[in-house]
Amino acid sequence: MSDLKVCYNILSQVYKQQAYGSISLTGKLGEAENRDFVTRLVYGVLQNDVKYDYYIGRMTAKKPQNSAIILLKIGMYCIEGMDSMPDYAAVNNVVELTKEIGKQGSSGFINGVLKAFCRQRPALPTEASQRLSVEASVPLWIVKNYIRRFGAEKTREFLTCAPFELEHARVNLLRTDKEKVLAKLVAAGVDCIDDPRNADCFFVRNCQKSRQLFDAGEITFQSLTSVECCKTAEVRSGDNVLDMCAAPGGKSVYFAGAADGVKVLSCDVYHHRLELIQQYARRMGVRLDVRLMDATVYNKALESAYDVVLCDVPCSGFGVAAKKPDVYLFKDKDKIFSLTQTQSRILENGARYVKAGGTIVYSTCTLMKEENEDIVKKFLKSDRRFTLESQHTYLPDGKGTDGFFVAKMRREKA
Ligand SMILES: C[S@@+](CC[C@H](N)C(=O)[O-])C[C@H]1O[C@@H](n2cnc3c(N)ncnc32)[C@H](O)[C@@H]1O
Repeated sequence: MSDLKVCYNILSQVYKQQAYGSISLTGKLGEAENRDFVTRLVYGVLQNDVKYDYYIGRMTAKKPQNSAIILLKIGMYCIEGMDSMPDYAAVNNVVELTKEIGKQGSSGFINGVLKAFCRQRPALPTEASQRLSVEASVPLWIVKNYIRRFGAEKTREFLTCAPFELEHARVNLLRTDKEKVLAKLVAAGVDCIDDPRNADCFFVRNCQKSRQLFDAGEITFQSLTSVECCKTAEVRSGDNVLDMCAAPGGKSVYFAGAADGVKVLSCDVYHHRLELIQQYARRMGVRLDVRLMDATVYNKALESAYDVVLCDVPCSGFGVAAKKPDVYLFKDKDKIFSLTQTQSRILENGARYVKAGGTIVYSTCTLMKEENEDIVKKFLKSDRRFTLESQHTYLPDGKGTDGFFVAKMRREKA
């Protein structure tokens, strides 16, 4: 099987069966001869999905079949994004792929559209928000939502900033210190750059080479915004912490190591994801109580028992689109509405588990106001015992910050 066919099969699973890109890729990468090529092509197509839909719409008289759309998107990325493949080779390879998947009847059509694409790209829309939607490959309704909130200039800035290539690493101070870690990494030829905001963190360029330290639990990869969220919670010695939506466990593990005698209960609704939390905790040498729990269902046993409750809720994930390029697929306003229902329920339940004087942190990796400020506002209106202490929206900045939202609320003392 050609590597292009492996790409086609992965993208078919994503587009036709709504599979997650990363999971489908991992499942089929073993079939590839050149894994880097397949990974780059699959991510490249997904990253440019909105843009290629626009091009296809402009270049074809009627909507092609799903398989032809996937073939055209593969071809467009080969032409635009794969410098190692000359245009003529890209067109030929995708025409061959069309035959390999048994769609020889479409090969003339694919050939014609891709050759025309090589000659000239369709003109971009003239209207500003439509143009940005195509240029940044972000669905128009999301671009309009952002422009209403952040203004056109800011929105363009964060939607078009170059992707950040470094990983954010945190030293496990329970096992080692930053000096020792950096000495080992520099000796191994790893490029390390200091994180000016967090004394125990730094950025690494080639994280594969830091694998040994990761496996030994001396460092972990935790995004800058995830660390910022954990700091906001201000967990102190002896605190009882409840992490309502904990998998894969990054924030729970941070809390467990943040101060002496911190007890953390880490919950998630998916059984298979609890194992990820356990593995994370074992690797980092911290103790967590891990429990299967649906955070949308009230649990009387937890009533007023926690100093800190974290609701790091399931969300649309639009703030991390640079890392998860399929995040925009199959998400519409209805999907956002249904997410907001879940998010509100989790926050309302979480609040009931906070001790008098304790805090609740609500966080998402999205920039949708409906999932962020609106949820917090509605909650504060409905539960007058809580006051807002801080609320911050992080915009993707191309320097390591993802799109993220964190709000911290405190329950009044008894
Ligand atoms: C944003 S992720 C959490 C990331 C995690 N806090 C960390 O830092 O590693 C959201 C998590 O919520 C879980 N989840 C989704 N619906 C849930 C529910 N009803 N109850 C509990 N957990 C839920 C998902 O399985 C997912 O692991």
